[in-house]
Amino acid sequence: MRRKLVVGNWKMNMTRAEAAACVETFVEQVSAGQECDVAICPPFLAISVVHDLLKKTQIKTGAQDVFWAEKGAFTGSVSASMLADAGVSFCIVGHSETRGRFGKLEVPAETTGYFAETDLTVNLKTKALLERGISPILCVGETLSEREGLQTDNVIQAQLKAGLDGIDGAEFAEGVIAYEPVWAIGTGMTCDSPEASRVCGMIRATLAEIWDEDAASRVRILYGGSVKGANAHELFAQPDIDGGLVGGASLVADEFHRIVAAAK
Ligand code: PGA
Repeated sequence: MRRKLVVGNWKMNMTRAEAAACVETFVEQVSAGQECDVAICPPFLAISVVHDLLKKTQIKTGAQDVFWAEKGAFTGSVSASMLADAGVSFCIVGHSETRGRFGKLEVPAETTGYFAETDLTVNLKTKALLERGISPILCVGETLSEREGLQTDNVIQAQLKAGLDGIDGAEFAEGVIAYEPVWAIGTGMTCDSPEASRVCGMIRATLAEIWDEDAASRVRILYGGSVKGANAHELFAQPDIDGGLVGGASLVADEFHRIVAAAK
């Protein structure tokens, strides 16, 4: 039986002081434990402060990205061993924002490929995290034009096969897949629950093809994209959805609390 998991992705929000204030409120309201797992992924600079506040609780600390090399001349990068040293248990990889396909253009159009994440770099990052005992949260999902062109399943299957290339099912047992339709991220447009569940089921079937049914049945598959208190219950009640990856709504303690409560 898979335990539900709710992950807050703070993206580029929160100074250290804001992060501390927010986590103090979360810790009072949001309990993780017997019924579901909870993690918060702050920006790199707030990881230490968040981890210090969370280590007495069952809420885990996550990160939003990683670089695959162990160390060296990689200006601006953070390695998996540095994340492990800081107490990180989960790390997002292949988010559509780092894949350079912004769901919502708040930056000049010419910078949308700025981060230029590819399936190959997603694969290298996933392997580096597994080697350090950090659970990857591998994001997959289609753009609106891919959905309209009936390419959803093909796009996601290709992202999974390339992202998990050379990784066996036992190694990924603590790993997580997040289905995040690009058009639903930060837009307020949620994928309807039956369709989100269908895609999560298709993802599990693809994992069973890559590995086997048993390995596929262990992996938690989250839905992400405009999850909020009002829709979380219905989404998490779907048989193939094991929890949520929550952006905007994880920045507000009350709202995040409602979402976690829906996972219990
Ligand atoms: P959102 O973001 O909840 O703000 O749509 C989700 C995500 O990008 O992980």
